[in-house]
Amino acid sequence: MTILVGYATAHGSTRSIAERIGAVLAEHGIGADVRPMDEVKDAAGYEGFVLGSAVHSHAWLAEAGDFVAGQHGVLAGRPVWLFSVGMPAALRGPWRGFGPKEETVLADQLHARVDAREHRLFSGVFQREHVSFAGHLVCRALGVRYGDYRNWAEIEAWASTVADELSPSGSTPLARPAV
Ligand SMILES: Cc1cc2nc3c(=O)[nH]c(=O)nc-3n(C[C@H](O)[C@H](O)[C@H](O)COP(=O)(O)O)c2cc1C
Repeated sequence: MTILVGYATAHGSTRSIAERIGAVLAEHGIGADVRPMDEVKDAAGYEGFVLGSAVHSHAWLAEAGDFVAGQHGVLAGRPVWLFSVGMPAALRGPWRGFGPKEETVLADQLHARVDAREHRLFSGVFQREHVSFAGHLVCRALGVRYGDYRNWAEIEAWASTVADELSPSGSTPLARPAV
């Protein structure tokens, strides 16, 4: 069984999270091919998908959206999990509530495009040099603190639940890959 852990990243933290998810799947005996979604040659060759993108302006990056749209027929018949990488943990004070709202906004967008088992919003790495001066001012107004907010325990726990569902004793009937 080979699962695609596909990702789209601007500054690398989504790639690192995809690699950790792939490593957890491998620890459970599941073949995981971790690669950028825009480099996938034959999506039909995978039996399941874990797809994740960095979030910019409350949406997935264009190449991730293009993959989901372009492979709609393939994804429709196979188990799919989605994750987004944003910055909910970087927010302070009254803005903390933004995280759950962002997760709902993203889940609504994504579930309209692909029938996924689950969607998770993780926090990634957000640094001053990632944004313009104007963006920095907006971040200051929102109480953003730059930093590395990847929560590896949370990511690994989620990946383990995906692996449990994919494992032969789990509940997921896997589609046959196209020959
Ligand atoms: C231009 C820009 C826009 C962003 N917009 C959002 C957003 O709307 N929501 C959010 O949660 N995070 C947002 N972020 C934070 C990134 O999603 C976060 O830093 C993530 O870790 C980036 O992943 P990457 O390192 O794979 O590019 C934004 C970051 C940048 C640079």
